[in-house]
Amino acid sequence: MSRFAPTTLLCLAALLPALPALAETSFEKVKISAGRQLFDGECHRCHSPDADRQSYGPPLENVIGRVAGTSPGYAYSKALAGSGIVWTPAALRAWMEDNAGFMPGTKMRHVGIEDRTVQDFILAYLTSISH
Ligand code: HEC
Repeated sequence: MSRFAPTTLLCLAALLPALPALAETSFEKVKISAGRQLFDGECHRCHSPDADRQSYGPPLENVIGRVAGTSPGYAYSKALAGSGIVWTPAALRAWMEDNAGFMPGTKMRHVGIEDRTVQDFILAYLTSISH
C-alpha cells in the first residue's frame, strides 16, 4: 500500500454519504428520458405533453393528480368525463395496462402496456411534466 492510501480512503469515506443521492438523481433522469422515448412511441401521436395543445386525445401535462376528464376544451367520452377518478400513479398503471377494462366506455384505443418497468418509465416522464 502506498503512503497516500489512508488519506485517499478517508476522502472516499467522506464522499460515501453523497453517493446514494447522486445515483438516485441520475437514475431518475434516466427513467424520465426512457419514459419520454416510450411516450413518443406509444402516446404522443394522440397526446400532447403541452397543456395548450389539443390533439386526438387530451393533453397530458399535469395529468398526475388531475381529476379524469377535466382538461378544458376536450370532448371526453361520457364514461371518462363522469368517472370522478383521480389520475394517481396506480390509476395510470391500470389505465395503461387495460384502459377499456379499467373504464368501460372510454374512447381511447387499447394500449395494453403490462410491463411494470415500462409503466415506471412512462410514469416518471408524466410526473416530470406535472407541476
Ligand atoms: C390512438 C390514440 C391514443 C393513444 C395511442 C393513447 N391515447 Fe390516451 N387517450 C386517447 C383518447 C381519445 C382519450 C380520451 C378518452 C375518453 O374520452 O374516453 C385518451 C385519454 C387518456 C387519459 C385521460 C386523460 C384525462 O384528461 O382524463 C390518459 C391519462 C391517457 N389517455 C394516457 C395515455 C397514455 C399514457 C398513452 C400511452 C401509453 C396513451 N394514452 C395512448 C387516445 C389515445
